[in-house]
Amino acid sequence: MKGIVVSRVRSVILGCFVLLVLAISSTAQSKSKITKAPFGTADGKLVDVYALRNRKGVEARIMTYGGTVVSLSVPDKNGKLGDVVLGYDSLADYQKSTFYFGALIGRYGNRIAKGKFSIDGKEYTLATNNGANHLHGGVNGFDKVVWTAHPSVEGDGPHLELTYRSRDGEEGYPGTLSVNVTYTLTENNELKIVYSATTDKPTVVNLTHHSYFNLAGAGNGDILRHQLTINADRFAPTDSGSIPTGELRTVKGTPFDFTKPVAIGAWIDQDDEQLKYGNGYDHNFVINKDGNALSLAATVYDATSGRLMEVFTTEPGVQFYTGNFLSGSIVGKKGQNYPRRSGFCLEAQHFPDSPNQPKFPSTVLRPGQKYEQTTVYKFSIR
Ligand code: GLA
Repeated sequence: MKGIVVSRVRSVILGCFVLLVLAISSTAQSKSKITKAPFGTADGKLVDVYALRNRKGVEARIMTYGGTVVSLSVPDKNGKLGDVVLGYDSLADYQKSTFYFGALIGRYGNRIAKGKFSIDGKEYTLATNNGANHLHGGVNGFDKVVWTAHPSVEGDGPHLELTYRSRDGEEGYPGTLSVNVTYTLTENNELKIVYSATTDKPTVVNLTHHSYFNLAGAGNGDILRHQLTINADRFAPTDSGSIPTGELRTVKGTPFDFTKPVAIGAWIDQDDEQLKYGNGYDHNFVINKDGNALSLAATVYDATSGRLMEVFTTEPGVQFYTGNFLSGSIVGKKGQNYPRRSGFCLEAQHFPDSPNQPKFPSTVLRPGQKYEQTTVYKFSIR
């Protein structure tokens, strides 16, 4: 008798506990919210991670170091949330890394040949960190600095505004650059990134975002069977050092034709000079568009999870990079390995080396002007 009473009491307690958890999670799902947690220190500054969650339970965790997206959990076809971006568990790993996992890139996304360019007849020399060339803002680019955060849940979803003031001469760039980047997690399961910047001297700016996506879930093998569409009839061939030659070549009849859905791995190992130079895809595509309206740049679909990602941008180009330099020796989140091509990047941007390419759209920013760009990564299932 005593045993029965005890087990009844136990099941009542258990029942109450289950109800309580459901109540908490249903409130969590019906309200969007932001929580903050410490993530260590860099350059003597405290680094925080902000978790942005929308009403559907989709969550983006973004840290102030590098404005880095540390995790992005979106549902698969069974409604199960999974983290679709590569990254690390510790700040120290991000500080050591040269992969730019999830980071904001600046002042200049991708390469500037020999780290040199001129504005108004004056030559500037930048830090070189990629052979003879300048890559992704230099040795201490925007991915390696601590940003100031201003979180808010007002408007079209929880958002995190990040600001950074880059001093005149930083990494060799002229002008003090005041940068503002706002990440919003919308109720339509979009991660929206709005960038703006102003300068006090003529300079060049090309900001982008460097998440490596694996729609099957970070650490779940390679991305070669993901189906990719890029809305681009042309791409920018490069020399062997990945500097554009200046030509904008038609994709027709080449392994760069993603105008219709094709598996990323379909042609990646073809005997093609451009694929050899990039060790796979590592090229800027010229998005089909007039002007700078927000428009569809690319779509990626993973049949195993049913996850679909669409990329919209105001930018004229997108760098498609297939994680060719990743290797199985990388220990990522949860101790998982990230072998070669286990993530892909779609970095919306102006074209690489534009400061030295008179035919490419200009990346010059002058005092009184405002640099602006918007890119949206939208997640759904099919
Ligand atoms: C970019 C570059 C690549 C590589 C990665 C980071 O996408 O184009 O060549 O440097 O960043 O590893």
